[in-house]
Amino acid sequence: MRINNADYRSVWWEHGRLKMIDQNRLPQDFVIAEFTSHEAVADAIRYMTVRGAPAIGAAGAFGLALAAQSAPETKFRASLKQARQLLITTRPTAVDLVNGVNYVYEEAIRFIPDIPHARQVAILAANEFANRSAEECRMLGEIGNTLIPDGARILTHCNAGALATVDWGTALAAIRAAHREGKQIFVYVSETRPRFQGARLTAFELEQEGISHAIIPDSASGYYFWKKEIDLVITGADRVCLNGDIANKIGTYQKAILAKEHGIPFYVSVPLSTFDLTCKEGGDIPIEFRPDDEVRIFGGVQLSNPGSPVLNPSFDITPASYITSIITPAGIFAPEEAAKKAQG
Ligand code: MRU
Repeated sequence: MRINNADYRSVWWEHGRLKMIDQNRLPQDFVIAEFTSHEAVADAIRYMTVRGAPAIGAAGAFGLALAAQSAPETKFRASLKQARQLLITTRPTAVDLVNGVNYVYEEAIRFIPDIPHARQVAILAANEFANRSAEECRMLGEIGNTLIPDGARILTHCNAGALATVDWGTALAAIRAAHREGKQIFVYVSETRPRFQGARLTAFELEQEGISHAIIPDSASGYYFWKKEIDLVITGADRVCLNGDIANKIGTYQKAILAKEHGIPFYVSVPLSTFDLTCKEGGDIPIEFRPDDEVRIFGGVQLSNPGSPVLNPSFDITPASYITSIITPAGIFAPEEAAKKAQG
């Protein structure tokens, strides 16, 4: 991704360290955070220094590679198992995290008892996972672009951009590709309470690329559908089930209902790491509930009645029947076919 005229990934390995763009500091400050332990990476995922399903998948993979560097030779497998558990329990909904961490774990333990070799393999495997993820997202851009007509007015939710992935994005990959091809597009960015990933991060990415957009309050999307000013919706997902149900950022479901009511296509764009072949339907997906203070307080200011309880589900389920198609690196599929067809 281009930031201040330089190319970045959201997470990358450099000289034995994991580096990532600190997404909690954006858009005010552009800060690169560095990590040398898997415990610190687990905290970075939990507290959302890095967020977005494919990005936390890659961060988790690199986190396990860090664990492999420090695990004692005599307890290599047990230490990696512990690190794996710590990393995958930081955020429960995005299956990419489980897939990234497990990929590095399985590759590394194959080389026991040659521990020095297993340590090297862990780094190679994490890089391979991240590179594959970035390439798949590049392909999502090319493929998703075919669904965007010139002049399209597009609604997206949360941040499904390069920051949420290793590079390119999922929903924003298609939007980027359409813009780079010269299509005149306009993006409605829903702000995405309570953490404002749309207002803070998607708007930042679009501005950096010179893509026309406006931030709207989450509650304003119905108004723009009613005005017939939205031609299509594209979001990412944190998990896709066998029947085509998806989990994505809280607020996605209501946009899908609005799209169906207004006869507008609702597309979901995902790399292969977002499919969960063990998950039959949306009810099987664990939904993360985040701390109450995300809703009560913003920027240090108490927004709500302090004594009232808060409910803060971070994701919701959009049933397959509300999804027009799922964009994958293997092509565009009907939601109920996507899990099987995308895996080949
Ligand atoms: O809580 P977050 O910010 O990690 O949630 C991110 C989303 O819901 C994205 O839309 C999703 O990860 C898919 S896009 C890469």
